[in-house]
Amino acid sequence: MSALLLDGRAAADAILAQLKPKVAKRNPVLAIVQVGDDPASSSYVKQKLNSCAQIGMLSEHRHLPADASEDDLRRTVEELNANDAITGFIVQLPLPGHLAHFESWVRDAILPEKDIDGFGAWNTGRMLRSKEDEIMPPATPAGIVALLEHYKIPLAGKHVVIVGRSATVGKPLAVMLLHRDATVTVCHSKTLNLHTFTTQADILVVAVGKPKMITAEMVKNGAVVVDVGINRIGEKLVGDTDFDGIRSIASAITPVPGGVGPMTVAALIANCVRAKELQQGEL
Ligand code: GUN
Repeated sequence: MSALLLDGRAAADAILAQLKPKVAKRNPVLAIVQVGDDPASSSYVKQKLNSCAQIGMLSEHRHLPADASEDDLRRTVEELNANDAITGFIVQLPLPGHLAHFESWVRDAILPEKDIDGFGAWNTGRMLRSKEDEIMPPATPAGIVALLEHYKIPLAGKHVVIVGRSATVGKPLAVMLLHRDATVTVCHSKTLNLHTFTTQADILVVAVGKPKMITAEMVKNGAVVVDVGINRIGEKLVGDTDFDGIRSIASAITPVPGGVGPMTVAALIANCVRAKELQQGEL
């Protein structure tokens, strides 16, 4: 068996095409704050801006120098919060080392109705209550759910094992999958005998940041494998799973690149459209 490739680029294009008429009608504007020139961040920012352009959505790139101060960043966030011309915005993470302690402040400083990353306490907390309260869900978990839905992979009653418990992916994804009636196990760096969990997964999601940490022996025959990892090895991008080894065991698998990455971008843009609808009293 060779696994079905879960093509995130094609699924993201389909979502973006659906958003296009809403963008034309409501004219949302997305802004991205980037501090410094981390090459990975620059590449993600470019992908986000390109996807906005693809559907005629206006965007702004607020690029601060690598030595920007706390005050510079604070002023930028406060200006974007107050700026009626901006529908939603994100601060691209990670911040440079001297501002790393400021990330938590940044996550909560963005107004909830403009928090299109869904990282702030308001959106995260509300999301815990129910599926209906997932108004601006965090982009990567939302993109994963949308990818599984695009390929009509059922979630109800399935055992989903998530490896990784980050605030950005693992934890919120667990909540979103519970809302869709999956049985969810979350594993992490202190989990003992990891393979005893991963081999039980109908759907295995890996978001750790370690190349090839999930090998073929750790995957059940016929499982669906979602690889959230993006690791740079020289010029090459690889995920957290041994893609070539797992391909003959899994029933479906995401490639890296071209799997979850484009879906995260589509989910972010969907959140910006939703933000505009919210602000116009449509939701
Ligand atoms: N860095 C890596 N992923 C993300 C994301 O989804 N949002 C932001 N703001 N920064 C990131």
